[in-house]
Amino acid sequence: MATIRFKENSYNGADNESVLDILLRHQIAIPYGCRAGACQACTLQASPSQIPDDCQQGLSEGQIHQGYFLACQCRPMQSMDINTVNTGAQKIPATVVDKTPLDDHTLRLRLSCRLRWRAGQYITLWMKDVARCYSIVSAAHLEPYIELHIRVHPRGIMSQQLFANTKVGDVLELQGPLGNFVYEQEHASQPLLLIGSGTGIAPLIGIAREAIDYKHEANIHLMALDRTAKHYAMAQLETLKNSAPQCSFQTEQTENAESIISSQFPNLRGQRVYLCGGQDFVQRIRKKCFMLGASPRHIITEEFINFGPQDSN
Ligand code: FES
Repeated sequence: MATIRFKENSYNGADNESVLDILLRHQIAIPYGCRAGACQACTLQASPSQIPDDCQQGLSEGQIHQGYFLACQCRPMQSMDINTVNTGAQKIPATVVDKTPLDDHTLRLRLSCRLRWRAGQYITLWMKDVARCYSIVSAAHLEPYIELHIRVHPRGIMSQQLFANTKVGDVLELQGPLGNFVYEQEHASQPLLLIGSGTGIAPLIGIAREAIDYKHEANIHLMALDRTAKHYAMAQLETLKNSAPQCSFQTEQTENAESIISSQFPNLRGQRVYLCGGQDFVQRIRKKCFMLGASPRHIITEEFINFGPQDSN
């Protein structure tokens, strides 16, 4: 059993318990977001010799050198002396320049900030000690703001706050951008099939826009899935389709995804497939696309993190 020493106190961990869970179980207030190694909200610091493997993914060389690690991914193999880090130094102020409901439960937020990003990457948005990851719809070289599509969950700490209280002119804090879920110019001659469930279509709209802007030669088809075929992003999908002759889209119900993909794309050999949505959805559709002939190397995925029923986005 490993012991965590933190701010002059010691805490015992259970078998296979993460540093984050040990601290939370002892009622130590510590920032965290995704609990999946994506948002970096739970970054702490220890002596490099005490840090186990696999809990520094996504951190920079400099951060690794300083002994930074992700508490949610760190299962101590020995006792650790842990310190907080100044995450404030890594956060960037972002001003809300637009806030528009796209339907009853989806919000479009546009943020102005001094960053470079690619459509399809994600940022971590902070409100006090709450952090959540959101995929980026806009492309930095096409518009001067980060656009996010945020599904408002009835018990979502962050999304409820953004929906109810955030106003144009407010200054939020963000970290990032992170991730490699982006358009790849070197594959301009390969047809693109972009399949997203719910707001999973958001980064795919951005990727399609970048592809069109970079003169993608082959077809680009977007499949937007949701609980009903009336999709929140219909207007943006129409605009996209009208912007390039090689671009098309369809909206469908998520529950019919597999049968629609099978009947419409019986042979996916040679296609580049991008998938985005909840973990179950992405894993199911990845398997289906593989069975229809898509090479595993050509299936690029982004899974949304499930924060659980008490603590959604
Ligand atoms: S990376 Fe640990 S909570 Fe997100």
